[in-house]
Amino acid sequence: MKQDINILAIESSCDETAAAVVRNGRQVLSNVISSQIELHKLYGGVVPEIASRKHIEKINQVVTEALKQAEMTLPQIDAVAVTYGPGLVGALLVGVAFAKALAFGAGKPLVGVHHIEGHISANYIEHPELEPPFLCLVVSGGHTHLVKVADYGAYEILGQTRDDAAGEAFDKVARAIGLGYPGGPKVEMLAKEGNPQAIPFPRAKLEDGPYDFSFSGLKSAVLNYLNGAQMREEQVCRADVAASFQQAVSDVLVQNLIRGVETFQIQKAAIAGGVASNQTIRKAAEAACRERNCQFYYPSPIYCTDNAAMIGAAGYYEYIAGTRHDWSLNAVPNLKLGERQ
Ligand code: KG4
Ligand code: ZN
Repeated sequence: MKQDINILAIESSCDETAAAVVRNGRQVLSNVISSQIELHKLYGGVVPEIASRKHIEKINQVVTEALKQAEMTLPQIDAVAVTYGPGLVGALLVGVAFAKALAFGAGKPLVGVHHIEGHISANYIEHPELEPPFLCLVVSGGHTHLVKVADYGAYEILGQTRDDAAGEAFDKVARAIGLGYPGGPKVEMLAKEGNPQAIPFPRAKLEDGPYDFSFSGLKSAVLNYLNGAQMREEQVCRADVAASFQQAVSDVLVQNLIRGVETFQIQKAAIAGGVASNQTIRKAAEAACRERNCQFYYPSPIYCTDNAAMIGAAGYYEYIAGTRHDWSLNAVPNLKLGERQ
């Protein structure tokens, strides 16, 4: 009989201190997240120095709680997995240093995990039938990638953003219309009351990179629209701005995903990252995939935004493939997907 593999996973790349215990890459025994959102809200975005300090304060408690909820002790764990990049260097360092100390002290293997690999692997948690190959659209606050997942741990980046990430554009537009941080969920909420066809915001087409994205032109168009209205002393319907902006982001994301599905004749596609919890984007991607007989997968919102369960899922596949890191593992803020340190 195959023995269960239990991974204790730690994530601290941005503003959530998170720990989880995941069995065999797919079964979440615990998933503890301590969010710093309330703290960063005051400043309209994540303040790296504050994030690092909060991670230090919380990490012990979060990891202890994750083991407790999983009803496990450290000796019962097979390996410690930790996000070591990309992300904020000070924030990453807290998780990496803690994971190294824990693994060293308990005599357990250490597995460094790429944050994006974690987001992609979040799809494995609730879809036991999902296995590579598939196409994954990774859309978060820091990343917008279209990735071909050839196998576990084998990724080919087809395209990525040339400027802002999709989530970053949501956050900036939210700030411009006075919604505050984090912008994504607030824009989505307000957009429900607006008309997505009200304002013809641009959809960037990049002739020399069919799978690449660009959101800075869209963001500028929204800012120009707001400034123009203000100068003319015209009233702006913020819900229409939110809905039209969201529709433009959705159109571009789905268009590139579908281009990939058609070109590579893909039968399975997925979405991951914070922006993947957006219902409009999900529904549009799902409908477009269904029309092409492509099965579409997405994680529950709790596994879309940063969490450690996704790191446990990715960590499991790295672990069984033999990935091991030693005590020299360091935080790599600009770690590329598929690159190993
Ligand atoms: O994956 P994540 O938690 O962190 C990064 O790795 O970046 O993503 C956070 C991003 C933020 O930019 C947030 O505004 C966006 O995801 N987001 C959303 C929604 N929920 C979170 N964007 C659009 N619609 C949402 N419902
Ligand atoms: Zn993330």
